[in-house]
Amino acid sequence: MPLPSDWLLRHSVVMWLLLQSLVLMTLCFHHAATSCSKHCYCSDSEGQSGGKTMRCSNLRLTEIPRDIPNDTRRLYLDYNLLTSVPANTFQNLPLLTELDLSHNELAKLEPGAFRGLAASLQFLDLSSNKLETLDPEAFEGVQARSNLTNNPWRCDCALQMAMPRLALEPVSLKGIVCETSVPEDAGVQGEPFLLAKDLDLCVALKKTTDVAMLVTMFGWFTMVISYLVYYVRHNQEDARRHLEYLKSLPSRQGKSEESSTISTVV
Ligand SMILES: *[C@@H]1O[C@H](CO)[C@@H](O)[C@H](O)[C@H]1NC(C)=O
Ligand SMILES: *[C@@H]1O[C@H](CO)[C@@H](O)[C@H](O)[C@H]1NC(C)=O
Repeated sequence: MPLPSDWLLRHSVVMWLLLQSLVLMTLCFHHAATSCSKHCYCSDSEGQSGGKTMRCSNLRLTEIPRDIPNDTRRLYLDYNLLTSVPANTFQNLPLLTELDLSHNELAKLEPGAFRGLAASLQFLDLSSNKLETLDPEAFEGVQARSNLTNNPWRCDCALQMAMPRLALEPVSLKGIVCETSVPEDAGVQGEPFLLAKDLDLCVALKKTTDVAMLVTMFGWFTMVISYLVYYVRHNQEDARRHLEYLKSLPSRQGKSEESSTISTVV
């Protein structure tokens, strides 16, 4: 009785092929329907008024995907190898409320990096990156609550100037814990920068500019004085020479001239 088993085998192979193509087709359709970025996983956001959740975590991405659906509400790009956020990356995502960029290699947020998110973004995770400083130009008024912890922050005059220009939720700024500082002996290393309120890291800089000004002014002053001294000396020399010349003139000629002028007057 070899016939039934052969029939069964043939049919199961056909069935298996059919099933596989069906699975492939659904995957393709699913991909087309959600128009999700390659390798990322998209789903509809639960609860809220529509929008998608896009997960691109742990994909060894070195660049942020360009084809993010414009109705994305939550975007997870954590645990990748991103090194920078270029300008206008999220510009066309008007619904984006949550953005997770934690656990990357971010050292630079270019000016305009978060452009277009000021109205919508509520939570921004930048923790566990390589950020040393913050450029207010990157945020353009983003008011989100942010996780800024676990970055090698360099507390210096530039960061001090940047802080008041950031619209991020103030509590978020407590996450900026100084790893290095300029000047090095400012005593803020290992401290949240925000709590060192009476510290002025721009003072040292002001002092050095003051000293430079002083030195320059002193230089000019010295030059002017030396010139004056030289001028006076030179003129004295001239005057002396002139006097000597006058003395060396024959005195009789002078007298006759004098008398002649007197006579003409008379
Ligand atoms: C997304 O883009 C489409 C087509 O350009 C547009 O019709 C739609 O309104 C956009 N959605 C959002 C949330 O901006
Ligand atoms: C901020 O990020 C760190 C490390 O990535 C995490 O341990 C911490 O729980 C986060 N804090 C908040 C308030 O989300």
